[in-house]
Amino acid sequence: MSEKIIIAGDHAGYEMKEHVKTYLLQKGFDVVDASAPQLDPADDYPVFGFKVAKAIAKKEFERGILMCGTGIGISIAANRYRGVRAALCTSTELARMSREHNNANVLVMGGRTTTKKDAEAMVDTWLTTPFSGERHARRLGLLDEPPQQ
Ligand code: RB5
Repeated sequence: MSEKIIIAGDHAGYEMKEHVKTYLLQKGFDVVDASAPQLDPADDYPVFGFKVAKAIAKKEFERGILMCGTGIGISIAANRYRGVRAALCTSTELARMSREHNNANVLVMGGRTTTKKDAEAMVDTWLTTPFSGERHARRLGLLDEPPQQ
């Protein structure tokens, strides 16, 4: 059975989201698109970051991909959910490190700051790089226990 991946973008990430969706479908992934049905400038990034993060936090999906204009706002939104590790990546090196060291379960990219070619390369790297485990696992555990303010 093919892996199910949830993706979404706000209006500024919409075009890139469409591109990544087509790319994933061509590769045989089962893609669930949590974006609005069509591009709408009123589509705000927190709404879509929360939708995908909630589905990951509830373990309905193991991995997700998010896009807004820069990737910054939507990654901030997604990371508000416990258990979600959304990594804004701008290169295949960061995509690789986000998997090896951070076990990122959401890849975030900027629709206005990333080329489609770079996005494809990051998606490929991110989806195929395993978590290194060991010392990194201890650090990930600490992420879920922030000291109370
Ligand atoms: C929308 O204009 C833009 O601010 C948003 O997509 C994102 O880049 C925010 O971080």
